Amino acid sequence: MEIKVLGSAAGGGFPQWNSNVGLNRALHDGQTRASARTQSSIAVRGRGEDWLLINASPDIRQQILATPALRPAPGRRGTGIGAVLLMDSQIDHTAGLTLLREGEKLDVHCTRQVYEDLTTGWPLFNVLSHYCGADWHEIVPGRDISLDVLPGVGLRAVALSSAAPPYSPHRQAPTPGDNIGLVLTDAATGRRVFYAPGLGAIDDVVAAEMAASDVLLVDGTFFTETEMIDQGVGRKTAASMGHLPQSGEQGMLATLARWPDKRRVLIHINNTNPILDPDSEARATVAAAGVEVAHDGMEIVT
Ligand code: MLT
Ligand code: MN
Repeated sequence: MEIKVLGSAAGGGFPQWNSNVGLNRALHDGQTRASARTQSSIAVRGRGEDWLLINASPDIRQQILATPALRPAPGRRGTGIGAVLLMDSQIDHTAGLTLLREGEKLDVHCTRQVYEDLTTGWPLFNVLSHYCGADWHEIVPGRDISLDVLPGVGLRAVALSSAAPPYSPHRQAPTPGDNIGLVLTDAATGRRVFYAPGLGAIDDVVAAEMAASDVLLVDGTFFTETEMIDQGVGRKTAASMGHLPQSGEQGMLATLARWPDKRRVLIHINNTNPILDPDSEARATVAAAGVEVAHDGMEIVT
């Protein structure tokens, strides 16, 4: 199994177009060694030629152009993307579908909750029906997902505690299936990757999935709970957005410390997070914990 990180930043990307705080302005001014990052998405390939796009970010055009493997040339028009899987209905994970409208009908795999959001509060499926069209394939957490486009890779979704987006009918009443994590198993090697770019809390089920995996590619959105408030760019806490920050006694780094022998990678990093700066104290803390910070173009091969 081959995983390519297409976009390692959270919503807004890094730098964010209107942000002048901290690293955003420093990057703009060439005053930091931090690297720009596009919005959250990965692509996975098994034994076949096709890729499964997991989350379709608003930066998808740039991501595809930067990834030659996603651009084979089978005909006048063509793509290496065989299907799309959405892990939630957030804009940073779904808006890219509109940019795929010039292609063939899309096969989109997501939970019933995400499909509901994408046909009501953010009616992407309805819009796409006027262009390429999209067939919905239901993902049920806990049940194996069978995908012809991904031979040699087993997939299973895990319902996560996170938050549905502001336009979701379930915003005030979180429902299992609003957000999922994914367990990807390489059939040849048996190696497992647990992927969860939005993870608000680690319950026993999630902890067991993490314990059984070899690679953990998990929520790296915020370093602290009040980071956006502290930097004067928002009023939301990490918890209210469904993200577990890295710091703190119950934080992501403390959790990841349970599995020092696994490959552990933080992804979906917000532009306020000091770990983006390779020279920051926060980054040194992450590195000392043996945890990696994902970057665009990162590859994970099992
Ligand atoms: C999130 O992951 O919390 C959202 O994508 C935030 C956003 O709307 O950018
Ligand atoms: Mn997001």
